Amino acid sequence: MVKISHMIGLFMADMFLIVGAYDVLLGAYYGLLGDNLSSPASVVQLCRKYNISRVRLEVSNIDVIEAFRGTEIDLSLGVPNDMLPNMATNKTLVEEWFNTYVEPYVNDYIINYIVVGDKAIPGLDDNILPVMKSLQDLLNAHYFGEAKLTTLVGFNALAVTNPPSSGAFNPAIVENMRGILEFLRGEGSPLMVSVYTYDQYVYGGNRSLGYATLSEQNSLVRDGMLSYNNLFDEMVDAFYAAIDKENVGDVAIVIGETGWPTCGNYNATTPLLAAEYNRNFKSHISSGKGTPRKENIYIEGFIRSIFNENQKPEGESRCYGMFNVDSTPIYSPVF
Ligand SMILES: *[C@@H]1O[C@H](CO)[C@@H](O)[C@H](O)[C@H]1NC(C)=O
Ligand SMILES: *[C@@H]1O[C@H](CO)[C@@H](O)[C@H](O)[C@H]1NC(C)=O
Ligand SMILES: *[C@@H]1O[C@H](CO)[C@@H](O)[C@H](O)[C@H]1NC(C)=O
Ligand SMILES: *[C@@H]1O[C@H](CO)[C@@H](O)[C@H](O)[C@H]1NC(C)=O
Repeated sequence: MVKISHMIGLFMADMFLIVGAYDVLLGAYYGLLGDNLSSPASVVQLCRKYNISRVRLEVSNIDVIEAFRGTEIDLSLGVPNDMLPNMATNKTLVEEWFNTYVEPYVNDYIINYIVVGDKAIPGLDDNILPVMKSLQDLLNAHYFGEAKLTTLVGFNALAVTNPPSSGAFNPAIVENMRGILEFLRGEGSPLMVSVYTYDQYVYGGNRSLGYATLSEQNSLVRDGMLSYNNLFDEMVDAFYAAIDKENVGDVAIVIGETGWPTCGNYNATTPLLAAEYNRNFKSHISSGKGTPRKENIYIEGFIRSIFNENQKPEGESRCYGMFNVDSTPIYSPVF
């Protein structure tokens, strides 16, 4: 099964202004931190039923990967954070991981991304690039050009976020980030980021609900020549500003996780609000408008999550699921 990836076109879109009919580049994050989740096989059925054509696994899991074999659902895989320090210094471990989770499956589905570290920066900053390089060598050696390496960074990788144009990486990690960005630029890979307007709305100050859920029509924030009518664009542009400051050339951003919880924090976390945010997110990223700072691009993203996960830390982080564990939707599906 060979499918020409539209990925390259996407990431180059802002440079070459490729215009065309893209698939909606929307996927779902499939987390496994629950003791009551239904089987991977029923998740495959759920994805088919609700038109989820791309799935991102936080960490690679053989049972899940096997279940997606031959389904024409694209997967993104994660290298777990706790393996990174050893893998960074021992290429044999990288090879073992690759031979277990990647190599046997390349003809069975498209691998969109291999995510080296999930919010592992700050913390494991030194380990990311060596593992990416080792994996890239393996991908090249096997001519697996379609899978892109990246790492997922959270908003806490930024020391400055407001106004968006002042966005800058935390000085403690900037050296490593620059190396990673240079690598991504060289490979034509995007940086994967985590964007939760919910967190900024609830814990970050005085943004209005409509601004956080992308329902606000009016521009509420002005930043130089740019104006913003939603918090998502502000957060993404803060990342873009931070990338631009490193002068490594264009590196695109893909939204590795976003969403809105349906429980855990009273009236701020309801199925209605989650549906509203996720629906708006989908139409925003697939509008081709990009963000005020990076106009006219299709943004690619993954909505957290397929299920609520009862082994996540207590509170709303358990409540990002779009589906009950019996696969019935918690709110009408957004895909
Ligand atoms: C299914 O998803 C694809 C790609 O994400 C989209 O183009 C299509 O419109 C969707 N179909 C339905 C019935 O929602
Ligand atoms: C690297 O990992 C392999 C596989 O687990 C192990 O056999 C080998 O001893 C490790 N090498 C070093 C230098 O730790
Ligand atoms: C936050 O509140 C301050 C003081 O009322 C106001 O100046 C500022 O514009 C507000 N910021 C946003 C994003 O609403
Ligand atoms: C939740 O209720 C409080 C108190 O009535 C109200 O001030 C707040 O705006 C509500 N929040 C949401 C997200 O509806």
